[in-house]
Amino acid sequence: MKILNCIMSGSLVLIMLSCGSRTRQGSDNSAVTNMTEAATGTAQNAMDHPGKKVYDNYCKACHMSDGKGLKGMHPPLIKNTTVNGKANKLIDITLNGMIGKVTIDGVEYNGIMPPHNHLTDKQIADVLTYVRKNFGNDSGEITVDQVRKLR
Ligand code: HEC
Repeated sequence: MKILNCIMSGSLVLIMLSCGSRTRQGSDNSAVTNMTEAATGTAQNAMDHPGKKVYDNYCKACHMSDGKGLKGMHPPLIKNTTVNGKANKLIDITLNGMIGKVTIDGVEYNGIMPPHNHLTDKQIADVLTYVRKNFGNDSGEITVDQVRKLR
């Protein structure tokens, strides 16, 4: 079906972008993730958390697999006051994105955090709970209800 959809989209470039690279990237990413986890000895329960999969698919490319981000481009999610602060602000940024200058841990960021309102309430709750309890963070979970109220 996937192939059929791609062919129906009628463009060879699209076929390569939407089918080919996704499959390749998928296997590359998991290899890298496995290596990172083996190296850092991430706790088993963090590896099994449903939010990890969402993080790997939608956040890792910018905020990196260890949550440290990319200095000056993508802010770290570790020891971050927004990540570990009020649930509503964190959910709002994840759902609706963020633009504009911010200083985080003494470093200025002036990038674009894309909106993620295409994710389900559960995916958002899972990924934010994962981020708040992983990478050395230790904050309370985010519930599906909290996300639903803000959407
Ligand atoms: C395309 C890159 C990109 C992706 C993908 C991305 N982010 Fe971001 N994120 C950014 C950038 C850039 C900023 C800072 C925006 C600015 O400079 O105003 C940011 C900011 C944030 C902030 C606010 C940090 C602070 O201290 O204010 C949070 C929280 C966050 N992202 C979480 C996430 C989560 C969770 C995901 C996955 C669901 C995600 N991001 C996906 C690039 C990204």
